[in-house]
Amino acid sequence: MKILSVVGARPQFVKLAPIAHAMADAGVEHVIVHTGQHYDHAMSDSFFEELGIPAPDENLTVGSGTHGRQTGAMLAAMDEALEKHQPDWVLVYGDTNSTLAGTLSAVKMHIPLAHLEAGLRSFNRRMPEEHNRVLTDHAADLCLAPTQVAMEHLAAEGITDRAVLVGDVMTDVLYQVRDRVASMPLDLPVEGAYRVATLHRADNTDSPEQLGTIISELAALPTPTLLLAHPRLRAKAAEFGISLDQGSITPMDPLPYPQLVRAVMGSAGVITDSGGLQKEAFLLRVPCTTVRTETEWVETVRLGWNRLVTDPATLAADVDRPAPEPTDAAPYGDGHAAARVVEVLQEKLPR
Ligand code: UD1
Repeated sequence: MKILSVVGARPQFVKLAPIAHAMADAGVEHVIVHTGQHYDHAMSDSFFEELGIPAPDENLTVGSGTHGRQTGAMLAAMDEALEKHQPDWVLVYGDTNSTLAGTLSAVKMHIPLAHLEAGLRSFNRRMPEEHNRVLTDHAADLCLAPTQVAMEHLAAEGITDRAVLVGDVMTDVLYQVRDRVASMPLDLPVEGAYRVATLHRADNTDSPEQLGTIISELAALPTPTLLLAHPRLRAKAAEFGISLDQGSITPMDPLPYPQLVRAVMGSAGVITDSGGLQKEAFLLRVPCTTVRTETEWVETVRLGWNRLVTDPATLAADVDRPAPEPTDAAPYGDGHAAARVVEVLQEKLPR
């Protein structure tokens, strides 16, 4: 069996790591196609190096662009990669433009398509990720769902016989890295208690009012905040004349994955608009405040470990809240999802 993984953006490299290792353990031939959506060392190569992922077999080097141009460039280049490798399955991950391009190319070439992290919904059609994941789930031959809630979303859209609950592969990689870095000393430019923040979504970065309010709220927090700045955040802040280096904020470049996990483990809290980081904070039992009006990871909110900020002007007050109740709930699986993904791909291989 030959499986071709399509990845391109930072969160996909994290999900690819446990899958690549499980494929190797099972002796499955695995081809990795990197679309080139993310290309900075800190956004791409560092994940391959730090997580022991084999170098991509193909890099489509599409780079940045508007959604249509970026997705279109990937789609054009993807056909060639699929023709060359003729996989038994194309495996796409999550909800980025790289996911959608891999999906369209595979479906049009009649290659069986599996979607990892299927069934997540924000129900916010302004988000490019929501279009990408809905379209991918409806095109896929196999929807690999991370949670029971995701299975329910798929069922509500009539996708039942193509859906399998496998658990969340981000739990696999997080637990492995957590154990590896637990004894690593903290190497951060702050003393004492601190928080970790990330911001990259267009809804937060692309309006001067929204971004200005979020940055002022972070700056006003009594505890230092390490702001791990995505390239888009830096570019937009510079464009709007908003300094990231103010008040209690210490801006930094994005961290490699193990250092990020270590930084979150040692922190008093996380403030983010990232999908993955909300869940990583929960799995490490660090309180999270999410600068979005909805989340795909509703379990983190229900269990009291995540709070959504509907008005950015209340961010500092939302962050400064009592500690959540301890919980041993495990909605994101047991850390062995990747091995199940490979088993299911073997079982369901269309003949
Ligand atoms: C993408 C995903 C998002 C995911 C995020 C993780 C889509 C629609 N969105 O958003 O779901 O949460 O990745 O980071 O696919 N840039 C660089 N260097 C890079 C990559 C990007 O400078 O290596 C800058 C460019 O100015 C680019 C901007 O960041 O235009 C946005 O990058 P893009 O890949 O379009 O989307 P993300 O915001 O990273």
